[in-house]
Amino acid sequence: MTTAVQDTAIEPSASPAKFRAAMRHLTGGVCVITVGRELDISGMTVTSVASLAIDPPTLIVSINRQSSSWPLLQRYRSFGVNILTADQVDIAERFSGGNGLQGIDRFSGAEWVSGVSGAPLLVGGLAAIDCKVDEIVERHSHAVVIGRVLNLQQSACKAGLAYWQGRYVAIDRDEDAVRLAEVSLPTARALWEI
Ligand SMILES: Cc1cc2nc3c(=O)[nH]c(=O)nc-3n(C[C@H](O)[C@H](O)[C@H](O)COP(=O)(O)O)c2cc1C
Repeated sequence: MTTAVQDTAIEPSASPAKFRAAMRHLTGGVCVITVGRELDISGMTVTSVASLAIDPPTLIVSINRQSSSWPLLQRYRSFGVNILTADQVDIAERFSGGNGLQGIDRFSGAEWVSGVSGAPLLVGGLAAIDCKVDEIVERHSHAVVIGRVLNLQQSACKAGLAYWQGRYVAIDRDEDAVRLAEVSLPTARALWEI
């Protein structure tokens, strides 16, 4: 259907600050992206991982091109997606760069193995997904990276880590299932309430 609206030039009016405030309402699962080989490794905490397609298994992640992980991802063309458990906030903080840790120092205090791609994979997360880069779309400050899943490991843990309203939030399938049954809506247990 053709309408006059389609022909009207729409100028973006949302400021970055307003957009950032709106996006704080979106709950994101917390992952650590890992890149590199052997001692030449780094990684970053992200909430932008999403499934792209189930068959073939592919995912996307949005990565800041100023981050220290970006050159390693381009060089080695592979990465790990490590989905964190509710009690891995310390790992999320190590990999968000706020504590000043860089490169390989972010990996201490947890157990890692090398995936078939060569990228480090976390032992003891909810899942560790080994990917090779399929395609990269660079836009503005970031790049959307499409990853083809090579291999993955899952744990039996039922408690995941989300980020919402600027805070880490634990979501436990067993504990929150009770409230879920009561109200038919997912609920989260905020870490600052524990
Ligand atoms: C909860 C959370 C989610 C984040 N999500 C993303 C993301 O999706 N993409 C991104 O580029 N940076 C994201 N960041 C920021 C990166 O973790 C941070 O900029 C990066 O680790 C800094 O890396 P560098 O010190 O290696 O440059 C997120 C940070 C936090 C705390």
